[in-house]
Amino acid sequence: MAKKVPNIVTPPPGPEALKWIQRDNEKMAPYNRPFYYPLVVAGGEGAVVRDVDGNEYIDWNSGLGVLNVGQCHPRIINAMMNKAKDFMHYSYTDFRFREPVEMADRLDQLLPMKCKYFFANSGTEANEAALKIARHSTRKQLFIGFIGSFHGRTFGTMAFSSTSLAQRRRFHPLMPGVTLVPYPYCYRCPYKLEYPGCDLWCVDFIEEWVLQKFVPPDEVAGFLFESIAGEGGYIVPPPEFLPRLKRLADKYGMLLIDDEIQVGCGRTGKFLAIEHWGVVPDIVTLGKAVGGGVPLSIAAARKDVMDLPPGAHCTTTGGNPVACAAGMAFLDILLEENLMRKATELGDYTLDRLKDMQAKYQVIGDVRGKGLAICIELVKDRKTKEPVDSKDFIGRLFRKGVLAVSGGVGVRIFPPLIISREMMDSSLDILEATVEEVNREYHGEN
Ligand SMILES: Cc1ncc(COP(=O)(O)O)c(C=O)c1O
Repeated sequence: MAKKVPNIVTPPPGPEALKWIQRDNEKMAPYNRPFYYPLVVAGGEGAVVRDVDGNEYIDWNSGLGVLNVGQCHPRIINAMMNKAKDFMHYSYTDFRFREPVEMADRLDQLLPMKCKYFFANSGTEANEAALKIARHSTRKQLFIGFIGSFHGRTFGTMAFSSTSLAQRRRFHPLMPGVTLVPYPYCYRCPYKLEYPGCDLWCVDFIEEWVLQKFVPPDEVAGFLFESIAGEGGYIVPPPEFLPRLKRLADKYGMLLIDDEIQVGCGRTGKFLAIEHWGVVPDIVTLGKAVGGGVPLSIAAARKDVMDLPPGAHCTTTGGNPVACAAGMAFLDILLEENLMRKATELGDYTLDRLKDMQAKYQVIGDVRGKGLAICIELVKDRKTKEPVDSKDFIGRLFRKGVLAVSGGVGVRIFPPLIISREMMDSSLDILEATVEEVNREYHGEN
């Protein structure tokens, strides 16, 4: 009989976890603190995470959007081992090899534009490359990004990242030439308007107040955006937003740079989340899941846009053959196991269950998402929308054996796409019990 998960054998943090947390605190720069909860991961399988004390948890994080086909998929392991036996590394900065080209062949089948590719290691690097590609090709310097988005932590990408003050404090000045405007976050509209009565003021504002007052449109290379804002809490823009943004970009000759690092690679039920709105971007960045669990990232640009000359941009380990082998195995699994369809079906099922909970419990203010990129917002009061402390909430889930992280002020649900319906149900049961608990604290009995 299959083992029951979650399986908490030692209430966390157990003795091994405590030991490693202390060692970690002594050795490591405190850059990530505060961690969400005292978890020390030892490994896992599929959608199960095992800690150093032998506890097993259901994974709703996918290692932060990386493990779309789960932890240690046997086909990815095999692909990497076979490649590593023969070919570990040679630098794509100066030499050619086959693997990035083979990976590009696969991406040609999945992306909506005819592309040329740049391979790197992290999402941030892919975005950094996208900015250089856009400036170089348009000969323009300025960019527009969105408040509440996340694009990375280098000086260029940090200029667009705006989900937390801690990421920016004492690091200024960042890359100049970036103007941020509000993301279409309808549940908490920054303009305090309501959809659809707002008639997408968030797009008109850009034209009427930004492009006509202080950002000359003929100097703007493009928009950098997430088609669904990940760190912001899977904020799904209203249906007209991206088509209208595209029209605005076309009107002034600006590029659409679509950061799909978190919501791409099949997570939302389509390879790119932007496909839900039928909009074709000019540049797409992929990271996280595209390497199947190892560092790999890609900036893909329309062929006529990717005009960087030789020597203009590169990185030593980008397109590493072992990483490409893992990436190709990931893409094969995604397609052969119909995981995008599964993400849609299981995502719809999960959203239905969450909406049922929302009807039952006052404390659930908002439920949103696409595929398996889902977020719930817990509120003390549905009118004021004052958020419940999501860190406390995910701590409770953790102790019951479900691993989740916050997103904006909400709680994100983004498990590996291979998670079984049974495991999803068990984790949603745990969520519901926890929601009930918190609901009682703020609203009494229902
Ligand atoms: C949308 C988005 N872009 C870029 C990044 C940066 O990726 P990385 O941490 O691999 O540099 C992230 C990471 O969370 C992300 O969610």
